Amino acid sequence: MRLLVVFALTATFVGAAVPFDYNAPLDRRQSPTTTSTTLSVGSTVTETTSSTPSSTATSGPGKAGLAWANENSVDIRQFEVTGKVTWYYTWSPHALRNSNWGSSRNGNTKLEFVPMLWGNRSLTNDLNTIEDVIRGNRTSGGVKAVLGFNEPEQPGQSNFSPSVGVQLWLDYLLPLATKYPGLRLGTPAVSSGPQGKAWLQSFFQECAGRCNVDFVAMHWYGINPDAFIAHLWDYHYTFSNFTTSKTLWVTEWACHNFVSNEQCSQSDVNAFLNQTQSFMDETEWVERYAWFGAMRNLQGVNPENALMDSQGDINSLGRQYVDASPDQSLRSGAIGLGEARFSYLIALHIIFSGLGSIVLGLPW
Ligand SMILES: *[C@@H]1O[C@H](CO)[C@@H](O)[C@H](O)[C@H]1NC(C)=O
Ligand SMILES: *[C@@H]1O[C@H](CO)[C@@H](O)[C@H](O)[C@H]1NC(C)=O
Ligand SMILES: *[C@@H]1O[C@H](CO)[C@@H](O)[C@H](O)[C@H]1NC(C)=O
Ligand SMILES: *[C@@H]1O[C@H](CO)[C@@H](O)[C@H](O)[C@H]1NC(C)=O
Repeated sequence: MRLLVVFALTATFVGAAVPFDYNAPLDRRQSPTTTSTTLSVGSTVTETTSSTPSSTATSGPGKAGLAWANENSVDIRQFEVTGKVTWYYTWSPHALRNSNWGSSRNGNTKLEFVPMLWGNRSLTNDLNTIEDVIRGNRTSGGVKAVLGFNEPEQPGQSNFSPSVGVQLWLDYLLPLATKYPGLRLGTPAVSSGPQGKAWLQSFFQECAGRCNVDFVAMHWYGINPDAFIAHLWDYHYTFSNFTTSKTLWVTEWACHNFVSNEQCSQSDVNAFLNQTQSFMDETEWVERYAWFGAMRNLQGVNPENALMDSQGDINSLGRQYVDASPDQSLRSGAIGLGEARFSYLIALHIIFSGLGSIVLGLPW
């Protein structure tokens, strides 16, 4: 009987995690980012690097990703069915947990995981975790890239100077790429304000060719798709020659105005996503992108940008993002919430049967 009790508790954990974990912590993510949409036209840094032509720049599929802060509280596989989305990151070194969950929930995702070293607070732990995922201990393997820090120029984010950034890079990130040949490194992801670009310019200046950066990661918030595209061109011109791949990863972007209260309507968001995503799909120096966001609560960003409803079910913007055809089911192959609730009920039933046995003094 002891075995049964253990099983019942485990089953409760698995089942209950789904319906009651709606406020899954954005624990490692901290908060959404960035503050300005101003397009900066600062001076171009004119230092050269030992860069080689890109073998990774592409147009077409394989670029779309998920910035995922939901852990296992949302079924990630509904975003996988069409094949448009190929990768995810979690603002942390932590991949989705694998089948320790006793079911084949998110840990069995086929998406490529890209770990991030978010900041400089728990460097040793985070680096150990990154090495674990690189070695395949915590994912199905296949880590190919690591993201640098999150918005280092923002006091509310990882918050350090370019000099500290370069030192951290040389001490912690560069050695990873040496230890695991083929692993690619992305810059600290800066926000779209002028201070973000200035931070990255200083970073590359202080690197003085030592950092061996593979691609530039960046964020953008605003309401004008043409301004977004101009910003990408600006970063392309300013920074490509400092990276081996000469590519950009847009690891957060959305139709959101941080400058005034003039926000996008749902149809503005749909049109904005369409235009900006099409541009990136067709532009070979944009390697990857992840919309903000694939979450139920957008943490202060205009909620019309959500790719799912408040239950965690993919919504029509989500279907647009993954390029689903109008009547395509995105549930196939996934354990739906209904099924999870069912296992929760079974677990409850087992528990109460067990309690009943105790109360009735039945032999175990
Ligand atoms: C990770 O995998 C490596 C190689 O298989 C193994 O030596 C190491 O002990 C594992 N680490 C953990 C924490 O499981
Ligand atoms: C982390 O950043 C803070 C703030 O800039 C800095 O004072 C500190 O020296 C950094 N820690 C390390 C290990 O670089
Ligand atoms: C980048 O390098 C290439 C080849 O050296 C050069 O032709 C190009 O002008 C450079 N781009 C910028 C923006 O400096
Ligand atoms: C944008 O809309 C056009 C016209 O409906 C469509 O053909 C295209 O696939 C859309 N692109 C994206 C990336 O959603």
